[in-house]
Amino acid sequence: MKVTSSEIIISAVKPDQYPEGTLPEIALAGRSNVGKSSFINKMLNRKGLARISSKPGKTQTLNFYLINEILHFVDVPGYGYAKVSKKEREAWGKMIETYLTSRDQLKAVVLITDLRHPPTNDDVMMYDFLKYYDIPCIVIATKADKIPKGKWQKHLKVTEQTLDVDPEDTMIIFSSETGEGKDKAWSVIESYM
Ligand code: GTP
Ligand code: MG
Repeated sequence: MKVTSSEIIISAVKPDQYPEGTLPEIALAGRSNVGKSSFINKMLNRKGLARISSKPGKTQTLNFYLINEILHFVDVPGYGYAKVSKKEREAWGKMIETYLTSRDQLKAVVLITDLRHPPTNDDVMMYDFLKYYDIPCIVIATKADKIPKGKWQKHLKVTEQTLDVDPEDTMIIFSSETGEGKDKAWSVIESYM
């Protein structure tokens, strides 16, 4: 998809703040600091639209982005960040569970993993959660620029086996630095709209 317009429309913490209407939504999930916001910026050709930080825990609300007036991306706070309190973790869990399990407009979740490393236990739990609720998933293994190309397929295989990826779900090697995988990611996202 050629992105001609993109803007943030709301940062929500509860359902009555979600945007109205029936536009299809694609939500981003993944470990804190894995590169969800960077993925959004790369896909939208917008350097600073989604806030990025070298410190984990930057995104704390459900941030809805409107793209070409026809699609929403929803940036979701990352999981697995050790320095949050139990109370905050529970609040996070409720917020994202409510969104993922009740939002009719949600067409698929982009699960971002780090191609360099095997998925974490939290990644496996998130993937299982999505499968339990029958939510289609696109697995984006990002930060590919950080390992040699010759190792990509081997690392992707580890990702696939660790998550036990469903044959119906697509896996894509990605880099927010180089744009690797961007066209494929758009074509898969469009297939869910
Ligand atoms: P939270 O909002 O804390 O959950 O993090 P996030 O998943 O949104 O991660 P974010 O996009 O803020 O990126 C975290 C760090 O990883 C930043 O320093 C990014 O520059 C870096 N990063 C993200 N994607 C890539 C990538 O593809 N390649 C490289 N080399 N660095 C990346
Ligand atoms: Mg973020």
